[in-house]
Amino acid sequence: MSPIKKKKKILIIVASPRPRSNSSILAAETARGAEEAGAEVQTVRLADLVFGPCRACDRCRKPGAKGCVQDDDMKALHGAIGGADCLVIASPVYWFTMSGQAKLFMDRLYVFGARDYRELKGKRVGVILASGDADPRASGAVNAMRSFQDAFAYLGAPIAGMVHCGGGRAGAAARSKDLMAQAFDLGRSLAS
Ligand SMILES: Cc1cc2nc3c(=O)[nH]c(=O)nc-3n(C[C@H](O)[C@H](O)[C@H](O)COP(=O)(O)O)c2cc1C
Repeated sequence: MSPIKKKKKILIIVASPRPRSNSSILAAETARGAEEAGAEVQTVRLADLVFGPCRACDRCRKPGAKGCVQDDDMKALHGAIGGADCLVIASPVYWFTMSGQAKLFMDRLYVFGARDYRELKGKRVGVILASGDADPRASGAVNAMRSFQDAFAYLGAPIAGMVHCGGGRAGAAARSKDLMAQAFDLGRSLAS
């Protein structure tokens, strides 16, 4: 008898507020790839949540602390991150780096740097970016990527893959076979 394989749980965070956004189209394709490979996927749009910035109170860093003291929608999201095997963050490029929504979310991941709450450690992370300019440097996509790389390295969660949609109006990502395949493969590889 073959051993029962546990379903991988993949949490996808969408940090674009606009409908038919390129990053959310690619995120949906990553979800499809992961689901086809047998994973369970949850997608959360940050625009649907109410949460504030990190207050830098450092109470999460006190010995024995088990989370953030703020009682907002990030509380449930921290729990979902803890329960997931992999995390995907899909963000537009705003002002040459990640969107404000994504930055607010990243700041609230500070809690996972606490000695007794290393819930992100060892989890693989996928990054999806969408920018107006096609060039990764001119658009600032490289800055967003570098920020994600450094933050997740600090938290002990390696970046497993990245997809960048450069240029095009809202919805353009869906017409690029290559980008859609990259996003699908990202989901499939995270699920394996
Ligand atoms: C506030 C704001 C700032 C932006 N700044 C940049 C930028 O610095 N570089 C760039 O290439 N595109 C920039 N754009 C364009 C977006 O990156 C582009 O529309 C992208 O497709 C948005 O991602 P989405 O489709 O997932 O929402 C900006 C758009 C907005 C609304």
